[in-house]
Amino acid sequence: MTVTEETAPASHYDRIGGASSVKAAVELFYDKVLVDPDLAGYFADVNMPGQRRHLTLMLTAVLGGPNEYAGRGLAEAHQPLNIPVEHYVKVGEHLIVTLTELGVPADILADVQTVLGQVQDQVVAAGNRPGI
Ligand code: HEM
Repeated sequence: MTVTEETAPASHYDRIGGASSVKAAVELFYDKVLVDPDLAGYFADVNMPGQRRHLTLMLTAVLGGPNEYAGRGLAEAHQPLNIPVEHYVKVGEHLIVTLTELGVPADILADVQTVLGQVQDQVVAAGNRPGI
């Protein structure tokens, strides 16, 4: 192990067990999002690998994992979907419940909530934001 690896604080992504834990979380999260009647429709025309890819990217991003994503920006990918804030909140709740069920510690859950708050304006359609 190098000095850098010993001294650098572990990311949340590493603390929960890295890629294999994210994979397990995606399975659970997927079951919740895609059976939620308010949310399933968004993914109706998205292929299965695309759906898993979405959830994996979302989880990795909010956990501060390696950013290997080189696709569309969050606003570009989501603004055309016209997502209302209620649906954004529901996805966030499914995510928090999933991570809680997997035993993710409270400090990580709190940071995930913070990230969800930070990216909300890119995902929720501009016309659907309260006060805009
Ligand atoms: C923190 C919140 C979110 C993050 C970080 C996130 C991340 C992403 C990313 C990176 C993409 C682009 C994938 C690609 O182009 O390959 C994407 C696409 C998409 N997202 Fe999200 N997302 C979030 C919230 C949501 C919500 C709340 C919904 C629906 C209620 C949603 C539905 C979709 C759909 C349907 C696509 C298109 C997938 C495709 O065409 O393959 N996302 N998201």
